[in-house]
Amino acid sequence: MSIFISFEGGEGVGKTTQAKFLSKSLTNINEENIITREPGGTELAEKLRKLILNNKTNINNLEEILLLMAARSNHINNVILPNLNKGKIVISDRFADSTFVYQGFVNKFGIPKIKKLHDQLLNRFYPNYTFLFKLTTNEIISRLKNRKNKNKYDKLDIKFHLSVIKGYKKISNSKRFININASLSKLDKDKIILKKLGF
Ligand code: TMP
Repeated sequence: MSIFISFEGGEGVGKTTQAKFLSKSLTNINEENIITREPGGTELAEKLRKLILNNKTNINNLEEILLLMAARSNHINNVILPNLNKGKIVISDRFADSTFVYQGFVNKFGIPKIKKLHDQLLNRFYPNYTFLFKLTTNEIISRLKNRKNKNKYDKLDIKFHLSVIKGYKKISNSKRFININASLSKLDKDKIILKKLGF
């Protein structure tokens, strides 16, 4: 069955681990699936990821958005759509909502402006379901302390994390969003997700 799922949330909420867990559960019930991520998912987009997330890259907010959208276009055309067309479930660790929140809201470029760009350039392509993983700011900070390979967003302060949480609140009022309490066990979160997907 072809379904496009995205996992979203702030830093350190455990999306990546949960995506792997879901992928295994789906495989166990013979549902073909792939895990992918953004920025990334293709050779080109992974190269762009390195540039975008590197603290030393000298790019302004607009250039960052354009690189993210170039990476996303390449990812949609070469990985997401071909796999959906083969009848697979595609699980993406982050997608367009991350740009709405991080660049649109946190970096103050404007959510409506980025949504407009997305809708015009990427044909209103959205996930069928977006699972939004939520933790309190204190829980996020304590998880990030233990993280080894920090990217430029992991290094920012509490104000940044609060702003990310606020940004997700602002954009997550449509039907495709499902809030997940990220402090539940992996198994409990997986059960909630599978049920929502109809398995
Ligand atoms: P990750 O650690 O969840 O893989 O995410 C990488 C970082 O990239 C994360 O801090 C959020 C950021 N990001 C954006 O700022 N805009 C985007 O469009 C995407 C997909 C990620």
